[in-house]
Amino acid sequence: MAILDTGLHLAFTIILALSSATSVEDTECIQTQYFEIGTVGLIPCSCNASSLALIAWVNVNEGKTILLHPNGKKNGEGYESGEFDINSNGSLLINNVTASHESVFRVSTAISLMGSSSSKLICVHTTGM
Ligand SMILES: *[C@@H]1O[C@H](CO)[C@@H](O)[C@H](O)[C@H]1NC(C)=O
Ligand SMILES: *[C@@H]1O[C@H](CO)[C@@H](O)[C@H](O)[C@H]1NC(C)=O
Ligand SMILES: *[C@@H]1O[C@H](CO)[C@@H](O)[C@H](O)[C@H]1NC(C)=O
Repeated sequence: MAILDTGLHLAFTIILALSSATSVEDTECIQTQYFEIGTVGLIPCSCNASSLALIAWVNVNEGKTILLHPNGKKNGEGYESGEFDINSNGSLLINNVTASHESVFRVSTAISLMGSSSSKLICVHTTGM
């Protein structure tokens, strides 16, 4: 447990650093996804999840960290509630799309906890109903 807590603490520290470091430049969606309400939505990370120390998914509009993937573990409010999941490609799964998922999502990845990181924004639009 202590190790996990330390890892989580590190992860949160990095995410704070990531969000402040990228808040200025990262304002444009590199990709737009359309999901039908009531289906499973997959927001692509296009990253090699197994070789990354950390993947973090953030709902930018709500300012909330959804899911953390430090060293192959899954954490975060959105994962624990069953609303979201992450696949082996690092892509975010919305288990049941609702209109509330219309938002901007940010994925941040880091190869090592001390190393550099990168992030990108993806815009999600919901359709139907
Ligand atoms: C998705 O959410 C809707 C609205 O809450 C619900 O009616 C539906 O049963 C859910 N579908 C699944 C597969 O959980
Ligand atoms: C992903 O990373 C793992 C571990 O570093 C490596 O073995 C694998 O070949 C990589 N896969 C791709 C598609 O780059
Ligand atoms: C991961 O990405 C590869 C290559 O794009 C794709 O073939 C595969 O279906 C993806 N896996 C999942 C679980 O989405």
